[in-house]
Amino acid sequence: MLTSETRARDFPHLEGKAYLNTAAEGIPPLAVGEALQQYVNDKQLGMDGREPHFEQWNAACTLLGEMYGLSAEEVTICSCSSEAFNLAARAAGLEQGDEVIINDLDFPAGSTPWLHDDCPATVRVWRHRDWSLHVEDLVSLLGPRTRVVSTSLVSFFNGFMVPLEEMIEAIHQHSDAQVVLDVTQALGRIPLDLTQVDLVISSTHKWILSSHGGGLVGIPSRSADRWNVQAGGWFNLQDAFGSERFEQVVVKPGAAGFTVGMPNFPAVYAIRAGLAYIKDTGVEAIEAAARPQMEACLEGLTGLPVELISPRDPSRLAGILAFRHPDAEAIHQQLLEENIHVMAHAGRLRVAIHGYNTMEDVERLLAKLREVLA
Ligand SMILES: Cc1ncc(COP(=O)(O)O)c(C=O)c1O
Repeated sequence: MLTSETRARDFPHLEGKAYLNTAAEGIPPLAVGEALQQYVNDKQLGMDGREPHFEQWNAACTLLGEMYGLSAEEVTICSCSSEAFNLAARAAGLEQGDEVIINDLDFPAGSTPWLHDDCPATVRVWRHRDWSLHVEDLVSLLGPRTRVVSTSLVSFFNGFMVPLEEMIEAIHQHSDAQVVLDVTQALGRIPLDLTQVDLVISSTHKWILSSHGGGLVGIPSRSADRWNVQAGGWFNLQDAFGSERFEQVVVKPGAAGFTVGMPNFPAVYAIRAGLAYIKDTGVEAIEAAARPQMEACLEGLTGLPVELISPRDPSRLAGILAFRHPDAEAIHQQLLEENIHVMAHAGRLRVAIHGYNTMEDVERLLAKLREVLA
């Protein structure tokens, strides 16, 4: 991934392309395609395929645990982040008068489940200033009624990375709230220390270079009792086929409650392969390779006639930068004509830099932007 040889070998589809859109869709290495083929082979075995299916499941959970800093028993895999967040909103045991804090740089998956009518809590919004979230603004929202603070570590919108340690310290000082963290835009891209987080959630089709169809859930055992998923199913139940099954439902506490039915095995194979690829490459090595490109891109964008909506402090960034321009859509088209891929959405352009990107990709982007904005 990090050298021209491994990039060409593992990502042949990147040839000639400046692909700067991993925050939308990661490019899987060939090993992920092979894993999906393996799933099909194993599925041909019918019921006998369950043995290799569950071997992949165990391997995926072990790798995920390592990535989250948890044991394999403290993690699980459901079908997408949105599913995990919806189950979380049911699992938190919220009551009238409780409060949940979300923020206005977050992706809808993590903020909207708490807004539903059947969620009894009052939602308070931590609003950004100058495209950054400030912990002192969060402090003014925290109190004895705060039960949950839910945020992305890295904003899908502008790449802002919350100061995690400082934020959690403030939460613990001013409330008894559980910290829910969406690491979709960080996992596989930057080293993580999630020790103090109570519920971690991630999608699977971006920076871990895997397929769609996964929601990666982690709950440390110290917080497991705070998350009891109120949902039927079988895979998530203590004794799904016991004699009492038509009288009561008892869900496994913590992460295990979030996989309600048969795991999405195709995704599980792909997740195992994607996580193994990231582990072999090394997240520290990915960050070390991509950081200079991020800084060069930030500096280049700062000198252009665009409205940068990402923080200018590189320490508050992971792999995403965003800017606005009245002609964003036309600029996007002109970039595409040069085989330069970024995200255009809601009037903004978003650049995402991963380990398979090169300084040449960034230079191509900046050169084309200079040309079209001249
Ligand atoms: C922070 C974040 N969370 C979640 C998602 C996607 O959620 P899901 O896995 O439910 O599609 C995205 C997609 O862009 C995202 O950026």
